[in-house]
Amino acid sequence: MARKKITVVGAGNVGATTAQIAAGRDLGDAVLIDIIDGLAAGKALDMSESAGVYPFSGSVVGDMDWQAAAGSDIVIITSGLARKPGMSRDDLLAKNAQIVQSVCCHVVEQCPEAFVIVVCNPLDAMVYTAARTTRFAKNRVMGMAGALDSARFASFIAQELGVSCADVAGVLMGGHGDDMVPLPRYTAVAGIPLTELMPPDRIAALIDRTRNGGIEIVNLLGYSAYYAPAAGAVKMAEAILKDTKSVVNCCAWCDREYGVGGAFVGVPVVLGADGVEKIIELELTDDERKAFSESVEHVRCLTAKIDELL
Ligand code: 2OP
Repeated sequence: MARKKITVVGAGNVGATTAQIAAGRDLGDAVLIDIIDGLAAGKALDMSESAGVYPFSGSVVGDMDWQAAAGSDIVIITSGLARKPGMSRDDLLAKNAQIVQSVCCHVVEQCPEAFVIVVCNPLDAMVYTAARTTRFAKNRVMGMAGALDSARFASFIAQELGVSCADVAGVLMGGHGDDMVPLPRYTAVAGIPLTELMPPDRIAALIDRTRNGGIEIVNLLGYSAYYAPAAGAVKMAEAILKDTKSVVNCCAWCDREYGVGGAFVGVPVVLGADGVEKIIELELTDDERKAFSESVEHVRCLTAKIDELL
């Protein structure tokens, strides 16, 4: 069987780390694309040489020319501006919409059968931009945010309880913004509801930290997070390439689901060989439903701006 081909667009921190994890996990041949001369080629060469230490079977190449990406099974879009201190994700909208649109024109030309995973911000609006530009079926276009946000939530819970992160499954919905909706009722540690293990004030504090998880790192580093975002993107790619049917929180097209009526927003989904194969509909309390609706409305305002801009 031919090896799978994963193209990562953008050879910055998120893109390079994504390619490195994907190659290291033997997902297939990785291609890094960047508009900066030498950046993708140099990082890819360095990564491919690392196989001499910790071996993997796929190739890693970098290029400015989209022909290198031809026929990819998955395209992960990380290109675009990232936040600096004092910026919100929404501040990136206009510039990144143009970048995602231009990237997606290449995707349509070179990788017409690919699944597209968007990582750049503002996430939900950029997924909308990718779907609008590619016109690919909605199950093939999705965004990496819930995987990151729920990983942050899980890691904070694990640290606080002194348990293995592997035992924590965090559930989280809504847009990738300050109004994301972590769901402690559905979050569990080895099957035990979080609400049984932690008092409400501590849960509230960890939810707050999760909502501000991105900016906490921007304020420390002076630029945006990349290890956990890259890991989240690879987790999604792996679920699709290996048809694992993993349940992942991610940005997906919701129509009748949760009564959204047509928007890309974060929900728990089943990821497999057909991309977003199913959206899992949870029973929500009135408060949870209200918080989710507010988050969806925020995303809708951003996508309306995209329609004005493009
Ligand atoms: C974050 O939350 C990059 O938006 C991303 O760190």
